[in-house]
Amino acid sequence: MSSYVTGPSRSPGFKPATARRILPQLAERLQGVVLENLPWERLLKLYDSTDTFFFVDPPYICHNEYRHNLKRNDFAALASALSNIKGRFLLTHTDSPEIRAIFADFRFEQVELSYTANRLTRDQKRMVGKEVLISNY
Ligand SMILES: C[S@@+](CC[C@H](N)C(=O)[O-])C[C@H]1O[C@@H](n2cnc3c(N)ncnc32)[C@H](O)[C@@H]1O
Repeated sequence: MSSYVTGPSRSPGFKPATARRILPQLAERLQGVVLENLPWERLLKLYDSTDTFFFVDPPYICHNEYRHNLKRNDFAALASALSNIKGRFLLTHTDSPEIRAIFADFRFEQVELSYTANRLTRDQKRMVGKEVLISNY
């Protein structure tokens, strides 16, 4: 697949000519997929069941990177709602004592990763971060 990182001094990673090749693959992959654009409270209610798996990829706590962001009390409400679901969930976030305290009722697994999206240090090395996987299983 293509990189989506662009800028005035970079050539775009996406090559329109590849669309002809990848569109049939995308169409096949999206068979039966439903895309929703809803607040997490509604999604949990709508789709929760004993057979449901939720992958939860929220904005980083108290960052303002998106049009919609989550504050500390939103994360506390999310943790509370996730403790009442019938299904399973896996949530990712940068590791921090604050996040571990909010999700203290769940399982944690720390993973190291190198960021791919425009995350270079001053000496142009990829930034390595510590993420935490939080789950109820
Ligand atoms: C880290 S991004 C997820 C990126 C996505 N997993 C992907 O790979 O493209 C966090 C997303 O949560 C969305 N978001 C913010 N507030 C939300 C809310 N209350 N309910 C649901 N989604 C929300 C943001 O708009 C943003 O798209």
